[in-house]
Amino acid sequence: MTSGSERSCSFEEYKETADWLLAYTNQRPKVAIICGSGLGGLADLLENKTVVPYQDIPGFPQSTVHGHAGQLVYGELNGKQCVCMQGRFHFYEGYPITKVTFPVRVFHLLGVETLIVTNAAGGLNPDFKVGDIMLIKDHLNIPGFAGQNPLCGPNDERFGKRFPCMSDAYDKDLCQMAMETAQDLGYSDFIQQGVYCMLGGPSFETIAECLMLSRLGADAVGMSTVPEVVMARHCGMRVFGLSLITNKAVMDYNSKQKANHEEVLQTAKMRAKDLQKLVSCLLAKIE
Ligand code: HPA
Repeated sequence: MTSGSERSCSFEEYKETADWLLAYTNQRPKVAIICGSGLGGLADLLENKTVVPYQDIPGFPQSTVHGHAGQLVYGELNGKQCVCMQGRFHFYEGYPITKVTFPVRVFHLLGVETLIVTNAAGGLNPDFKVGDIMLIKDHLNIPGFAGQNPLCGPNDERFGKRFPCMSDAYDKDLCQMAMETAQDLGYSDFIQQGVYCMLGGPSFETIAECLMLSRLGADAVGMSTVPEVVMARHCGMRVFGLSLITNKAVMDYNSKQKANHEEVLQTAKMRAKDLQKLVSCLLAKIE
């Protein structure tokens, strides 16, 4: 394992990337959206787009997963300026955790104040159905328990303080606003609220692991999002998150079901339009 300081990026590295982007476009969004697996279609809806492939951006990691495009898309969604990550970086791709979260600090330096995170997740809560949208009210940072927290290493006060609070990680007002928006859109049958648990992946969970996570209070499990949220809260961004329940976690030894990436992408496709509409309507209401 590498030491904290080896894994850290310097302020200058984030700044170099941010300055490059500031020079590349004169769009100055206050909201950034990270699109999860199969949910990148959201970025296609933007108007007056500026598209920047990750490979063109100095210091940016590259995305390798099927279902992730790998570009930043600036533009307007429902009249609101935003910047979308069409494709995110995962710990299981082999990146150090600080590379996974690299874009978040860049967004901060670009002037972004609100981060919206989306992901695909397995449903642990027995009341959840495939296709449900879960508004994230809290998380379990399992890699963090094992020292894989993006804030490990020297703290840079220019971003935030050494020991940031996480009991208010997900903005209550935004969550409430999203719930009301979902109800107005007629989504009551498939909208949920719950706790997202991050594991490192890339293997899906065993049955015993799913049972354990459920008993620990997790409603959904996935392989992303939490490091970005920790980093965003450290530098004072407001965070709103949602999980699309793409499959039910297998919790029964008699079950013949098996988690697989194809089902994840298929469900994402089925519910993508509803999810996009929710984010777009919420965005219009954000100050
Ligand atoms: N487990 C972990 N990550 C996931 C799952 C799952 O069942 N579904 C989508 N992402």
